[in-house]
Amino acid sequence: STYTVGVLVGSLAKASINRLLAQALTKLAPDAKLVLKEIPIRELPLYSYDYDADYPPVAKAFKQAIAEVDGILFVTPEYNRSIPGALKNAIDWASRPWGTNSFARKPTALIGTSPGAIGTAVAQQHLRSVLCFCNSPLMNTVEAYLQFKPGLITDSGEVTEASTEEFLRNFLREYHLFIARVLTVLPRDA
Ligand code: FNR
Repeated sequence: STYTVGVLVGSLAKASINRLLAQALTKLAPDAKLVLKEIPIRELPLYSYDYDADYPPVAKAFKQAIAEVDGILFVTPEYNRSIPGALKNAIDWASRPWGTNSFARKPTALIGTSPGAIGTAVAQQHLRSVLCFCNSPLMNTVEAYLQFKPGLITDSGEVTEASTEEFLRNFLREYHLFIARVLTVLPRDA
């Protein structure tokens, strides 16, 4: 069956190479029986537990959007060898109020791109720790650390290198299989 996947892009930059990667993945996803749609994080204020008693509409909508999808794909840059602040903020919002953690039982996967050779590996390692604490079933492999080179993905989200396109297709196929496995033991309506 086809699964719907929410995409959290960890960059707020207009020229974000990770948003470009998210666009490329969105185009390739239907072949792997996935439908990707971005869940925006830009409008979320900075989280504080003062909000827990009365979540603002933007944060309620954010949690609702996560509740409605079968999985969450993180497409994130690495900032200072870690998770970008905007993305960590979004995760903190989704994890609360206490007892309503949006990531529990939600199959997640990570991917990211950087001009640097290690392609966001350290940020992803930190993100793994966070999602582990948030009780998210997380795809361990395929790992996807993509070094970005100018022109690798066109403005319309076409991957220009055949080997990279095949790598991304395989990543999406594996994620589909992973979601299927997780939903077998943790059905969404259970
Ligand atoms: C970076 N960059 C970066 N790259 C990397 O591989 N490891 C890192 O730790 C960092 N640190 C870092 C910090 C900050 C504050 C910025 C703005 C940038 C470079 C980064 O990979 C590059 O700017 C990418 O274009 C970021 O991805 P987006 O935002 O374009 O998707």
